[in-house]
Amino acid sequence: MSIILKCDNLSKSYTKKNKQLNILNNINFAFETGKFYAIMGESGSGKSTLIQILGLLCNFDSGNLYIDNNNTENLKDKEKALIRNKKIGFVFQSFYLNPLLKAFENVMLPLGVNCKLSDKEKKNKALDVLKQVGLDDRANHFPFELSGGEQQRVAIARALVNDPCIILADEPTGSLDPKNAKIIFDILKDLAKQGKCIIVVSHSDDIKKYADEILYINNHSLTKKGGE
Ligand SMILES: Nc1ncnc2c1ncn2[C@@H]1O[C@H](COP(=O)(O)OP(=O)(O)O)[C@@H](O)[C@H]1O
Ligand SMILES: [Mg+2]
Repeated sequence: MSIILKCDNLSKSYTKKNKQLNILNNINFAFETGKFYAIMGESGSGKSTLIQILGLLCNFDSGNLYIDNNNTENLKDKEKALIRNKKIGFVFQSFYLNPLLKAFENVMLPLGVNCKLSDKEKKNKALDVLKQVGLDDRANHFPFELSGGEQQRVAIARALVNDPCIILADEPTGSLDPKNAKIIFDILKDLAKQGKCIIVVSHSDDIKKYADEILYINNHSLTKKGGE
């Protein structure tokens, strides 16, 4: 295990109509590879904001964020996009699949157009990760031909196709029934065991069974409880 993502005194506020909304205050935490982290907290506490900061999707006011020991402070947008594409996989509550593309085509998307791989190699990579999430027999289905749980598994496959070291998931089971939620948590847990850093925001108490570390956002701070 090694530190892959490090928050160093991170603070974040939003300004709306000249009013400053304080969201996160001096967050200090180091996330390691091979671990499953649960981030919990009340609605509006800043969970999605933190996940977006960790994924370089949202700026912060002060402090530093290190990804794989590199300070992200002076990165240009293009460089951030490259890091997101290579090192980070995202999974959201609403799966954000392209409805006009088949499952395997959705999964191929992060491989991009300028990639050195041939179309055949890209397709094979997509089929490999679909197999990993148990959906090799659904590769040719369009999203509307899949259940919600299956669509989320396609989204996980898409997050995995570039073999990122970090997976960030924001309420990935928020739209799913308990049976499908379990399948998703099991897949994410397995990925942590394979060495990835898995960070999952969830309201569901069920996540506590899977987490190596449970983190709470409370009163603008991130604190650790239980786990390990
Ligand atoms: N872009 C934004 N501009 C202004 N306020 C925002 C913005 N995004 C989120 N907020 C506010 O910040 C707080 C935290 O939001 P969020 O991170 O989405 O919380 P959570 O995911 O824990 O429910 C909420 O009060 C929300 O209304
Ligand atoms: Mg949220």
